[in-house]
Amino acid sequence: MDCMDTNENSQLLARAVPPLLEWYRVCKRDLPWRRMRNPYTALVAELMLQQTRVEAVKERYVQFLEAFPTPEALAAASEEEVLKLWEGLGYYSRARNLHRAAKKIAEEGFPHTFEGVRALPGVGDYTAGAVCSIALGLPVPAVDGNVLRILSRLCADSSNIDDAATRGRYARLLQEVYPPETADFCEALMELGAIVCVPNGAPLCGQCPWQTLCRAHLAGREEDFPVRTEKKARRIVEATVCVLRCGEKYALEKRPAKGLLAGLWQFPFFEGAAPDFGPPVAEKRAKHIFSHVEWHMTGKRIDVCEEIAPYTWVTAQELREKYAIPSAFKAFLPWIV
Ligand code: ADE
Repeated sequence: MDCMDTNENSQLLARAVPPLLEWYRVCKRDLPWRRMRNPYTALVAELMLQQTRVEAVKERYVQFLEAFPTPEALAAASEEEVLKLWEGLGYYSRARNLHRAAKKIAEEGFPHTFEGVRALPGVGDYTAGAVCSIALGLPVPAVDGNVLRILSRLCADSSNIDDAATRGRYARLLQEVYPPETADFCEALMELGAIVCVPNGAPLCGQCPWQTLCRAHLAGREEDFPVRTEKKARRIVEATVCVLRCGEKYALEKRPAKGLLAGLWQFPFFEGAAPDFGPPVAEKRAKHIFSHVEWHMTGKRIDVCEEIAPYTWVTAQELREKYAIPSAFKAFLPWIV
């Protein structure tokens, strides 16, 4: 049943706002970006949190803001420094976009409108909505996967949440009921999806402020929602990663400027087999899962007797301090001593 356009759902959502805000005030997690709030820190948090788990972001957010406490400080940094502080968070284009956004903000000031925030590099509807609600007091919905899930359950709505039209309908529905507490409301919706109405496994309905309102729960059908398009299987890439050591130095290469992990540093990486650099002193298998691809890697630690071109040869200390190595290669870092 598609019930999202009915007046009944507007009323249901209007009734759902007060208990949600009440629950959020009592149950919200103490997260670093909730302690200090300005538009810049909110932008940093929301960009880091796109596609990355809260637990993985917490510490990195604090370190990033220690290094770059203001848009001016970030604007003045080099791209290598910014990427180094983003190391391990993945989706590195977010770091490059944030760097570009900081340059724009340092010159023009932080925008005051949804359109202005939306025009910053790397900022889509969701991030613009979150920054506007959280830091600018503007009633703009931020509809991500969490919000789609909790609303589709609240309304027992079987429209496909992967359709852009469904997202648009939820955004309009939220817009109508936005309370003056824009920051709390925006984060309460995310929080309910993150800690109660969870994505994997059974939701914790016993702790939910909507348990007497939620149509899916009342029908005992929580896990029938949301309805989604089945995902395509990921492509599997077999690869060989060569950790070449010459004396005190290790070989690195920069990935191509376009595509997966663009422009980041890696150990010499070969789809399929590697050229013969000599016999490995150690070997291990490792797997890394991206959204559309899985790398199934064989790592080889090999001693070589010259600094082979075209690689960049760096010491262990330089590698740790200056070069951003994506977490796809984490399994091979214990070889760097
Ligand atoms: N995910 C995206 N934005 C978030 C926020 N502000 N708090 C918690 N989780 C989030």
